[in-house]
Amino acid sequence: MHRLHLNAHHGTPGIIVLPEGGYRRARAEITAWPGYAPTPLHRLEMPGVAGLWWKDESQRFGLRSFKALGGAYAVQKLLAQELARRGTAPHADAAALESGRYAHATEQITVTCATDGNHGRSVAWGAQRFGCRCVIFVHENVSQGRREAIARFGAEVREVPGNYDDSVRAAQRAADENGWFVISDTSYPGYTEPPRDVMQGYRVMAEEALSQMPAPPSHVFVPGGVGGVAAAVSVQLRKQAPGARLIVVEPEAAACLLASAEAGAPTTVTGELDTIMAGLACGEPSLLAWQELERGAFAFMAVPDSAVPAAMRALKARGVEAGESAVAGWIALESLLAAPEEAARLGLGPDSRVLAFGTEGATDPELYARLTAA
Ligand SMILES: Cc1ncc(COP(=O)(O)O)c(C=O)c1O
Repeated sequence: MHRLHLNAHHGTPGIIVLPEGGYRRARAEITAWPGYAPTPLHRLEMPGVAGLWWKDESQRFGLRSFKALGGAYAVQKLLAQELARRGTAPHADAAALESGRYAHATEQITVTCATDGNHGRSVAWGAQRFGCRCVIFVHENVSQGRREAIARFGAEVREVPGNYDDSVRAAQRAADENGWFVISDTSYPGYTEPPRDVMQGYRVMAEEALSQMPAPPSHVFVPGGVGGVAAAVSVQLRKQAPGARLIVVEPEAAACLLASAEAGAPTTVTGELDTIMAGLACGEPSLLAWQELERGAFAFMAVPDSAVPAAMRALKARGVEAGESAVAGWIALESLLAAPEEAARLGLGPDSRVLAFGTEGATDPELYARLTAA
């Protein structure tokens, strides 16, 4: 069974977390990267609503998740800024960095972050492409397959005890001690710029999806980890589909955004955060993301791990590759449609046009094969 919390502060005015100028730059850079192409939007049958459109991130830049858009872009931006600050190059763009022209300078720079898989893969990919060193911190529960995928991009992977939030602190400590640069997907007091760039990158996915829809969605489901992607979608909805209702979906064991909404302030969920939805195993909301979601989200939901394998199989049967974290929205939608009173609280019914973000594919192929085996 799910938990549902309607956001009493939905629609209230607030600060601008992701300024348009920053997004224009992010969009221009990312859409110029070699191999860029919008990912597909599938129309799927879902009895009980007018239509379900599934934004399929399973093949994004070959990294198999939308996270390719965020971390790698923040690495590029940081390197360009550092080269300008050091007087090496005033405006190094992606092509210049990838050409190796400034390798003598970028090789001296190390970027770092914590990850439960996908963000670290994106940062490592960016570091390899743009020519800097990279050290990625993982916690004990990050699968071997996900670690190897990061190491394949030439990054050093270091395991630290504890959960995701502990690995965030370990990355920050190592950066402080060694003069490295943290490229985190989560923000906290005193640390906001790279996560803002990461979120601006995610908006490319949201803009693509909203442009691909035949008509604006009435309801949008997005998975929630620290809230970064949900906030990016929220900002883009305000621009492209202001009437849509955003529903943020988290695993039961790590529902820090739902807890924050209930408390009316950013709230940490502690413990092991043990969930099969590895990308969503975050106990501390991102400060910036929360500033957007506290007024942008229409509702917050938590769904159980037990529903994940069946949801992955259901999507596979429809020809869609969706990893463990990607199916949160599917589970939430099915579970609401089975509870008509709750669906009615969201105005969800036969006229609804639903957009769901399938944020990853088989990012751990072995686990994907196991969970989707009949
Ligand atoms: C596949 C996938 N979906 C969703 C999320 C949630 O993103 P955020 O932490 O920005 O809320 C993540 C985070 O790692 C992820 O890997």
